Amino acid sequence: MSYNLFLNLTLDKDLKIAFFDSGIGGLSVLAEALRRFSGAEFLYFADEDHVPYGTKSRAEIVRLSLDAVGFLVSRGADGVVVACNTATSAAISELRGAFSVPVIGMEPAVKLAADSFGARPTLLIATPLTIAGEKLARLVGRLECETWSLPLPRLVEFAQDLEFDSPAVRAYLREELAKFELERLGSLVLGCTHFNYFKDVLREILPSHVRIIDGIDGTLNRLASELGEGLKFARGYDLPSRAAKFDADGGVEFGANSSAQVGKFEAQGRGADSRQNARGHSKDGGKIYYPNGNSVKYFYSGRALDAAQLRKVELFLKRLDAMREIN
Ligand code: DGL
Repeated sequence: MSYNLFLNLTLDKDLKIAFFDSGIGGLSVLAEALRRFSGAEFLYFADEDHVPYGTKSRAEIVRLSLDAVGFLVSRGADGVVVACNTATSAAISELRGAFSVPVIGMEPAVKLAADSFGARPTLLIATPLTIAGEKLARLVGRLECETWSLPLPRLVEFAQDLEFDSPAVRAYLREELAKFELERLGSLVLGCTHFNYFKDVLREILPSHVRIIDGIDGTLNRLASELGEGLKFARGYDLPSRAAKFDADGGVEFGANSSAQVGKFEAQGRGADSRQNARGHSKDGGKIYYPNGNSVKYFYSGRALDAAQLRKVELFLKRLDAMREIN
């Protein structure tokens, strides 16, 4: 085979992109990737046997993350998104040192917050490990903006218990957030992917001028630039996707692509229906097919999901869809 032909075959191969989180938080990043890209093969690994990560030691998280990413690479991942701020904080250098595929991390979007609303303080909510981490200290140290932080470990537990919108969640968030002068804030940064499930409750509690910022776009932009050749954008989703432009008054404007895509997406039916679940599920971790020609294989720790678990994943994705425009 000539060298040129070999090169073409290599470039034509569909890329497999893996997402990894301690649990269901990283689905918020996957959900956005499913809208943004087309014809992609995704793997999703939730380390359900060991969640939560945010209250463990750094050494433990390094070990667990190496295992998880090792599993994904053994399943053919050409790139891995660590859709977990905590695992990124604890283990990103070890992961990059151990594997030759690109490993994209996820950091709290405090820089975006500072650049957009830096005239007022930023409040970062994240896990205890992320907040205590050196990585965050370095990141915040470079900013001019006043940045406050608040660990919310129970919010991860609420999410894992599928308790998204209960009186207990509201009471917890009200009590924790009351420790800060919320009226002074410019933005609240969600520094843990599990927190995306609570945007509606947070919106209710925060003064209306305070913007809610997640790090999803930044992470996917990074993924697209690292693996650009092999990742195709869905129609109407060329860069910059879901570009949230913050104007000087703190107002928010979404790119015109975003709502058009939402409509189209809903019209096509969101994600795998039960028929697809039943058919797509197999011992090896059946592929679930989504609009835009994307597919996902889900794993809880090393195990393929059963039909009941896959139905729950659909509920999570639906909730995340409802949360995505809340800002
Ligand atoms: N979802 C993870 C994050 O983004 C961590 C949650 C946990 O396991 O504590 O930080």
